[in-house]
Amino acid sequence: MITESVRPVTNCRVCGASDWQDVVSFGDVPLANAFLEPADSYEDEPAYPLGVISCRSCRLMSVTHVVDPEVMYRTYSYVTSDSETITRHMEFIATTCGERVGLAAGDLVVELGSNTGQQLAAFARHGARVLGVDPARNLAAVANERGVHTLPEFFTETTAGDVHRSHGRARLILGRHVFAHIDDLAGVLAGVRALLAPDGVFAIEVPYAMDLLEKYAFDTIYHEHLSYFLVRTLDTLFARYGLKLLDVERLPVHGGSLLVLVGRPEAGRPVTGTVGELIAAEERAELGSDAAYREFARGVRVVREELSALVRSLLAEGNRVAGYGASAKGTTILNICGLGADEMAYCTDTTALKQGKVLPGTHIPVRSPGHARNDPPDVYLMLAWNYADEILRKEADFLRSGGRFILPFPKPAVISADTAR
Ligand code: TMP
Ligand code: ZN
Repeated sequence: MITESVRPVTNCRVCGASDWQDVVSFGDVPLANAFLEPADSYEDEPAYPLGVISCRSCRLMSVTHVVDPEVMYRTYSYVTSDSETITRHMEFIATTCGERVGLAAGDLVVELGSNTGQQLAAFARHGARVLGVDPARNLAAVANERGVHTLPEFFTETTAGDVHRSHGRARLILGRHVFAHIDDLAGVLAGVRALLAPDGVFAIEVPYAMDLLEKYAFDTIYHEHLSYFLVRTLDTLFARYGLKLLDVERLPVHGGSLLVLVGRPEAGRPVTGTVGELIAAEERAELGSDAAYREFARGVRVVREELSALVRSLLAEGNRVAGYGASAKGTTILNICGLGADEMAYCTDTTALKQGKVLPGTHIPVRSPGHARNDPPDVYLMLAWNYADEILRKEADFLRSGGRFILPFPKPAVISADTAR
């Protein structure tokens, strides 16, 4: 553990309380996206405590420790997927948000955590003026090359003020799967208030804690994901910082997410019925009680043991096992289940930045899909299970020739050509 880059969470970043329930603890784990060059020894590889606690006041689920964002994000190896699933989803976001905000040609759309600019490019095709803000200097450079103007910065009140002066107010501020990575919510929401047009909308996409709790998908717990939100928690958060939760929509993307629309209370935009309906569903499922988090911890323990036992029994029968998708979730589940280079032949991944490197912690090599097709395993552990349908379609030949996949959640299961949908 490198103490100067990590600090334990004390007060809740949503409500300020400090009454936490311990939920799960995974020990010291390396950062999920910290891929390494192959080496003879990995002695100095940093690892940080990883676990989850739940705030008894607002029911935010938070990681136990926050790693310095300068360490995690200045050079970043997660490139937004160009899978069919995500390409379609980005078009959906551009259309839905465009309609809900009433975007006109030339209106400014600002995205935080805009990565390589793929989502903003979709808004630009719809006629918006776009600006990205992303601290990853390597990715901001890629976005700028493709013509999506991107500032290589964290989104703070200062950055928001600079953007306001240089570009005017934003009718839409968007944060896709970045909001749960932010520790200083007060600072970011102050920035949103400074930059948002009077009738503008702040739209975020976050993993939904209800899905996490129901599916036991503990591999979405890694150091970058600081917060796992319920709708009731989001409602508390935005009210506290002078904004208003207007709408939530459940989406299948990334294993179960929420698209959340937020506005200024004084703009008088209506609140949709889904907000109250989902808060009521959370109450019915008693997600405000300690028991729900104890049940989650039990489910996590069971999946962890069963998955590890399943892989080991397949290996004992003489099968070769490899990972499919060197996703951050994948590096997490392998570390947490103790599955390393002795068990997994390799992980295949489409991201050029990851190929030729080794996974953090387990040091399993990352291979290109071409390499994997020439040297297929008997069984793939599905590490990018959020794209399972797309991947099973793509790998129909592998399945037809007798190959199998393990799907980890909510209960580890082996699927073959006979059982694949
Ligand atoms: P994500 O779930 O964070 O988007 O990451 C998915 C990872 O899986 C990413 O590294 C790309 C990889 N991947 C493949 O290797 N093959 C595929 O067919 C898909 C859809 C993803
Ligand atoms: Zn709280």
